[in-house]
Amino acid sequence: MEKARVSVVGATGLVGEFLLRALVGHPRVRIALMVSEHAAGRDICDLLPALRGEVTGKTVSAGPEAIAAGSDVAFLAKKGPESMELAPKLLDAGCRVIDIGGEFRFRDHALYEEWYGNRHTCRDLLAEAVYGMPELARDRIAKARLVGNPGCYATAATLALYPLLKAGAVSSEWICADCYSGLTGAGRQYNAKNSNLFVDVEANLRAYNVGTHRHTPEIESALAEATGRRVRVTFVPHLAPMDRGILATIYCRPVRTGAEPGGALRILKEAYANEPFVRVLDDPSQVATGNVRGTNYLDVSAKLIERTGVLVVASALDNMVKGAAGQAVQNMNLMLGFEETAGLKGRSI
Ligand SMILES: NC(=O)c1ccc[n+]([C@@H]2O[C@H](COP(=O)([O-])OP(=O)(O)OC[C@H]3O[C@@H](n4cnc5c(N)ncnc54)[C@H](OP(=O)(O)O)[C@@H]3O)[C@@H](O)[C@H]2O)c1
Repeated sequence: MEKARVSVVGATGLVGEFLLRALVGHPRVRIALMVSEHAAGRDICDLLPALRGEVTGKTVSAGPEAIAAGSDVAFLAKKGPESMELAPKLLDAGCRVIDIGGEFRFRDHALYEEWYGNRHTCRDLLAEAVYGMPELARDRIAKARLVGNPGCYATAATLALYPLLKAGAVSSEWICADCYSGLTGAGRQYNAKNSNLFVDVEANLRAYNVGTHRHTPEIESALAEATGRRVRVTFVPHLAPMDRGILATIYCRPVRTGAEPGGALRILKEAYANEPFVRVLDDPSQVATGNVRGTNYLDVSAKLIERTGVLVVASALDNMVKGAAGQAVQNMNLMLGFEETAGLKGRSI
């Protein structure tokens, strides 16, 4: 069987590297182009030594015509708004696109412009782009030419809350999400800020971007679109002294079934019974970043604190896998009509 040709643009970034790790073990695709702007023409293993013995070839500098000519699907893993230049040209040339950044995650260009501070230069594509969360939009992703791959925090919070909001088991107006991320969430940091240096991060814990983090509108709009009601989330991200992983601890005001002991957990178990990459655990204390490391799983659980009437929902994922490269490959599988789990089950990425 002929393999699909997939290219990674921004191949030397952290997400680019994890895409290569995921794609090299995929039975239905071959890596066509590893596109790099800052390091074109180099042996990929000199740039990313972890890939030695797994991936071979050189990085290339390539424009949209060359990428489209050599690829059935292109993953755009650049930082910044370049994907708005590339995506329309790739689509016009018949290449499907999975954008890993924030440029195609919103229907409303004004929301993107407000939170990202960039003008959206291909607004017409936003109506067509599908937010790539398979658990919410599997059928639409399967038909999509353009997918906006979700953010890492947004995946952790949205999948934890979606079944509960859909069932009307929590108030959509009062939700607080305390989320903790490892340092890879910020990328390779070749322009490292002092606040992200090892000496500042090691054995230290702090909140950042309180009330201003870009994943706030992403969580709210994904949940609003999936449930049909306005959602407000107080989202507080924290930088944790670890390399990978996200833990979300979310506090909700329960209503109806959610206010019964065990009610929220039952809703999660029913909603995710057939999901290949969501595991519902019996207690939030079982949800841990170490258990999902290197996998495309999201673990989730919920518990009502009867004494205070607060529902605690917890989720964990690996930001490099279910929070980025793994979810992108899951989306590619759907778009190309492959088994949804192809290349993602039973191996560490
Ligand atoms: N990190 C995460 O956990 C995560 C999760 C979800 C989504 N995302 C999104 O994924 C996209 C890529 O993020 P990332 O974490 O992979 O960012 P990154 O590691 O900072 O890499 C971004 C780009 O920088 C270039 N680059 C790499 N090393 C460089 C160096 N030493 N000097 C100059 N340029 C260099 C690469 O492009 P060239 O090879 O073309 O030069 C690369 O694609 C972003 O849109 C981000 O928001 C990230």
